Amino acid sequence: MVVMRLLLLLLLLCGFLFSLHAPSRATAADTLSRGRSLAGDERLVSSNGKFALGFFQMGSKPSNNTFNSYLGIWFHNVPKLTPVWSANGEHPISNLVSPELMISGDNNLVILARDTIIWSTQANITVNSTVAVLLANGNLVLRSSSNSSDIFWQSFDYPTDTLLPGAKFGRNKVTGFNRRFVSRRNLNDQAPGIYSNSLALDESMRLSWKSSTEYWSSGEWNGKYFNSLPEMSDRTFNNYMLVNNDQEIYFSYTLVNESTIFQVLLDVSGQWKVRIWGQHDWITFSYSPRIQCDVYAVCGAFAICSNKANPLCYCMKGFSIRSPDDWELEDRTGGCIRNTPLGCNGSDKSTKGMTDKFYPVPFIRLSANGIGKQNATSAKACAELCLSNCSCTAYSYGQGGCSIWLDELINVATDDNGEILYLRLAAKEVQSWKGHKHGTIISVSVGVSIVALVFIFLFVIWRSRKRSSPQMDNDQGGIGITAFRYVDMKRATKNFSEKLGVGGFGSVFKGHLSDSVAIAVKCLDGAQQGEKQFRSEVSSIGIIQHVNLVKLIGFCSEGDRRLLVYEYMPNRSLDAHLFQSHGPVLDWNIRYQIALGVARGLAYLHHSCRDCIIHCDIKPQNILLDASFTPKIADFGMAKFLGRDFSRVVTTMRGTIGYLAPEWISGTDITSKVDVYSYGMVLLEIISGRRNWGKKSFTDDDHARYFPVQVMDKLLNGGIGSLVDANVLGDVNQVERVCKVACWCIQDNEFDRPTMVEVVKFLEGLSEPDMPPVPRLLHAMTGGSPSM
Ligand SMILES: *[C@@H]1O[C@H](CO)[C@@H](O)[C@H](O)[C@H]1NC(C)=O
Ligand SMILES: *[C@@H]1O[C@H](CO)[C@@H](O)[C@H](O)[C@H]1NC(C)=O
Ligand SMILES: *[C@@H]1O[C@H](CO)[C@@H](O)[C@H](O)[C@H]1NC(C)=O
Ligand SMILES: *[C@@H]1O[C@H](CO)[C@@H](O)[C@H](O)[C@H]1NC(C)=O
Ligand SMILES: *[C@@H]1O[C@H](CO)[C@@H](O)[C@H](O)[C@H]1NC(C)=O
Ligand SMILES: *[C@@H]1O[C@H](CO)[C@@H](O)[C@H](O)[C@H]1NC(C)=O
Ligand SMILES: *[C@@H]1O[C@H](CO)[C@@H](O)[C@H](O)[C@H]1NC(C)=O
Ligand SMILES: *[C@@H]1O[C@H](CO)[C@@H](O)[C@H](O)[C@H]1NC(C)=O
Repeated sequence: MVVMRLLLLLLLLCGFLFSLHAPSRATAADTLSRGRSLAGDERLVSSNGKFALGFFQMGSKPSNNTFNSYLGIWFHNVPKLTPVWSANGEHPISNLVSPELMISGDNNLVILARDTIIWSTQANITVNSTVAVLLANGNLVLRSSSNSSDIFWQSFDYPTDTLLPGAKFGRNKVTGFNRRFVSRRNLNDQAPGIYSNSLALDESMRLSWKSSTEYWSSGEWNGKYFNSLPEMSDRTFNNYMLVNNDQEIYFSYTLVNESTIFQVLLDVSGQWKVRIWGQHDWITFSYSPRIQCDVYAVCGAFAICSNKANPLCYCMKGFSIRSPDDWELEDRTGGCIRNTPLGCNGSDKSTKGMTDKFYPVPFIRLSANGIGKQNATSAKACAELCLSNCSCTAYSYGQGGCSIWLDELINVATDDNGEILYLRLAAKEVQSWKGHKHGTIISVSVGVSIVALVFIFLFVIWRSRKRSSPQMDNDQGGIGITAFRYVDMKRATKNFSEKLGVGGFGSVFKGHLSDSVAIAVKCLDGAQQGEKQFRSEVSSIGIIQHVNLVKLIGFCSEGDRRLLVYEYMPNRSLDAHLFQSHGPVLDWNIRYQIALGVARGLAYLHHSCRDCIIHCDIKPQNILLDASFTPKIADFGMAKFLGRDFSRVVTTMRGTIGYLAPEWISGTDITSKVDVYSYGMVLLEIISGRRNWGKKSFTDDDHARYFPVQVMDKLLNGGIGSLVDANVLGDVNQVERVCKVACWCIQDNEFDRPTMVEVVKFLEGLSEPDMPPVPRLLHAMTGGSPSM
């Protein structure tokens, strides 16, 4: 809990920065009363300056100079316009009409344009005079002008895609009134989209597509969090609650510090997201469902979703995007359309589409809405069954027998263990590719094949002599990075059966090469670059070799698959040894050697490589131990493999939040000092043998228990020996030295932190660290604590 506060303070720091460049808001009012109106750029601003209400437009300028204008509420201090509510999503107004917001004769709040009421709160008002107020929590209320508790209408009752703190998500059991969330149509259009989130009576959240097909459930509420969202037990920024009584059932949350800019929303992508504003951009902490392709039909009809592709969606062979502009805005519901009509619809009606062809699409997660045809007992019969019905667009014949799909084919995704989908296409369409691509004269293709065979033969001989492609070799002396085939990796890992773990970049499986060398194979999720770039990056990472870095043995790059092959570490990762309650504890000597080894590995990454490499995710899970407990850092250089979207990957990884340097959230540039900070946090855990934060510390004496605070306290007031794991005896001078280094590493200001080279020197005893100042955040956290 205290670490949460620490993070919170980091955020406050951001809040402070915001307040510096926020426009002057002394004049903006939060109340609209009778006789006044709001138009153009005028806005109401909540009393705390956090929210603004007014007319807004989104997107770039259309060619004919007309925008859709919406009345809505957004975060006043977030430079990237982020609406949290809109009134007239379904009835956008052209900016040429100059709409006005005012209190009408019947005391309702209305949008008036050219003397027409576009939108109204439509409440039954029982007083003579009302006012509209934008409250500090972002709720727009219409209330009696004389009695502030007499509320007739509030925006919290008619939410769009965002759940704000203090709002109720759920229903009134007596009246049946239900507040649910609906995604927006696309990034520019505030019209309701196809995804919604409702709170079910069994106390779970359910995401559905077109209000009919449910694709994700949060699991039931267990008193603290929804069962499939254990990360909600993290109370860094907010406290969640669920109320269920005779009158109502609702889910809600409050912020730990009101200044935090926090958003929970149902995104255009169909994912329920929890995010926080980190000065330059939103940092998303949680996505549900976690995998984008698990959102039902996210790519629309006749499109395939692939988590490994960029962009996410692509049209099936023989189809083209129906509305490219909407795709750009992440609205893919239009899907793809056929390039050539099927035989059924074509001119040759006599054959009724029997001339159509099937195109096999391998590795497909089939859509569940196929119709099983049990009496078609062969692939041929299944194909014929499909051809005989003009609505049939695809079939599959696999483990489940014959299935056919009628009309639009939706919710299709790639899957490495998936089946083959046979897609029905017009014969003309298939012929047109043959004509272009392969040539039609058989003798030519035979000739080409022979030449190709000769080439392949020569290539194989050449490969077997070199054992790796020339790109993989380097002038520093024959490091062998092997290019593996996917089938070999599949065999080596027994079809990816023994999972070692899941990281932010993909799953890791254990395997054996033919010579019984154990390997760890990492299947990268979301690798966004082409084969050539991947290979060149593999080779540049392959050059990086150090006794404290995990060695890259090889890779595999086939189709959209990207695998990395590493040496296998029998003693797994540091967290397994530090934090498990049973089994032998690591003695102080081994801990000290681990601390030193990790520091050396990082110093090498930061300073000795050709390019400086920032790891960005130092944590005990990424420190592996070989048979003799030599530490080896894993996952370095991943930024290179994943391409430009790196910051998103890092900030969305779970469980690493306790190691993030303040710069991540304040938005200043990231330097190698972020690794120094994370290293400091890990060092504290190595000393204590427990997590800096943990479930056990959810008690009232948090301040005393948060380990970094204790270390600082003991450094200043003596008694450092008591800090080390009770089961371990350590040399007190060495422990004190390590404690000092750790406190230097977690300084707020990156310039105060040592470099990793200096850390190595301190640990080796080659130079002596001074007494570290108390990190400002720790200081603030303990407030008036007498011990410090
Ligand atoms: C919340 O944040 C503000 C602004 O940064 C800060 O002044 C205030 O002390 C914080 N409140 C708490 C309870 O931490
Ligand atoms: C301007 O263009 C948009 C989209 O292209 C269209 O929907 C709208 O009707 C056009 N407006 C006018 C006034 O032509
Ligand atoms: C307002 O009152 C009318 C008549 O009493 C009723 O039919 C209507 O449902 C009420 N509207 C609301 C929003 O309560
Ligand atoms: C509303 O105004 C009328 C006349 O101005 C007055 O008679 C009436 O008592 C008022 N009603 C309320 C609820 O204030
Ligand atoms: C104000 O309105 C509330 C809710 O309608 C009511 O309970 C309360 O008695 C009113 N107060 C006064 C002073 O009229
Ligand atoms: C055939 O054409 C009709 C309209 O002309 C269309 O609704 C239908 O989807 C088409 N069917 C196929 C399989 O293309
Ligand atoms: C399967 O049964 C349907 C009717 O139930 C029939 O129309 C179809 O011809 C049968 N297919 C085969 C391959 O027997
Ligand atoms: C195609 O098959 C479906 C399901 O078996 C059936 O409902 C439909 O009527 C068939 N359509 C035609 C044109 O035969």
